[in-house]
Amino acid sequence: MAKEPVRVLVTGAAGQIGYALVPMIARGVMLGPDQPVILHMLDIPPAAEALNGVKMELVDAAFPLLKGVVATTDVVEACTGVSIAVMVGGFPRKEGMERKDVMSKNVAIYKSQASALESYAAANCKVLVVANPANTNALILKEFAPSISVKNITCLTRLDHNRALGQVSERLNVPVSDVKNVIIWGNHSSTQYPDVNHATVKTPAGEKSVRELVANDEWLHGEFITTVQQRGAAIIKARKLSSALSAASSACDHIRDWVLGTPEGTWVSMGVYSDGSYNVPAGLIYSFPVTCCNGIWTIVQGLPIDDLSRKKLDLTAEELTEEKALAYSCLS
Ligand code: NAD
Ligand code: LMR
Repeated sequence: MAKEPVRVLVTGAAGQIGYALVPMIARGVMLGPDQPVILHMLDIPPAAEALNGVKMELVDAAFPLLKGVVATTDVVEACTGVSIAVMVGGFPRKEGMERKDVMSKNVAIYKSQASALESYAAANCKVLVVANPANTNALILKEFAPSISVKNITCLTRLDHNRALGQVSERLNVPVSDVKNVIIWGNHSSTQYPDVNHATVKTPAGEKSVRELVANDEWLHGEFITTVQQRGAAIIKARKLSSALSAASSACDHIRDWVLGTPEGTWVSMGVYSDGSYNVPAGLIYSFPVTCCNGIWTIVQGLPIDDLSRKKLDLTAEELTEEKALAYSCLS
């Protein structure tokens, strides 16, 4: 029997990530090839005409799984009945703006969208925040949507995770699909810690540790980490625009694994509400290694953390604690 359509919200849908993301969702990349969807696309009034153009293209593409499109600038209409919400809309940093100015704009957006989601989304709606500062926007959304379970509010660090897989794959000249279990700890910013201490590669002789195969600590502790940390800035420098196709694809990976489950023996990185695991302060949205089953993520426990890693986990937690304080100061 055909499945009932799932309503998926994309905010900022007239922007560049939105333009890459909505066709992926309509093709079944996010929720599977047998899952019909109804797309809800939200943007702000100055982008209404462009948003309508995206809707026209979705109709023209005749996606078999796409059972309807809502394109609106009304946040209530956008949030009504959605089971998945991908929050891409936000205020970009403009020339001459202080960090606090950008934070204050985004805090206001995420506060009001949290209330709309809380009141109008389907019960158990899963939320993924993509817009920067992604971890702190997600935290604000959590604060202002107290009836949405903290287990249902996440942010995107899967792009950083995929970037780390890509770097290892290029270095070892192995298919990226044979590399697994890298970890992104912390913030989706340049303080994040891409960790390969537990990562492995599938070889004809079985699973081998990435550290052993690379056999070059200088690269692993240096260029590998900085390349992943700075990749967003490198894309902006090269394209004069921030990453869009890889961000959209990673957002699909994040939701797909969350809803449909992670493969046996594999974890992924997600920004989730910290419960104090690995001595990360509770109450931050922090990227951890997680496994997913039946629509629920669980932080992978018990991984040994060496001294160098400990320092890096703490550094990115400190930055998130500062961002949290700045966000709260914008609220008062
Ligand atoms: P963009 O400027 O092309 O698009 C953003 C869209 O959001 C615009 O259409 C804008 O009109 C809309 N918007 C602004 N305020 C809104 C509001 N209140 N409600 C609804 N829509 C609103 O930007 P983009 O390149 O698509 O990037 C979007 C965000 O994603 C940025 O914050 C970017 O920094 C972030 N990003 C995050 C990651 C990640 O891995 N977490 C990766 C890449 C980009
Ligand atoms: C990315 O990681 O590509 C983006 O978060 C960069 C940015 O600042 O938009």
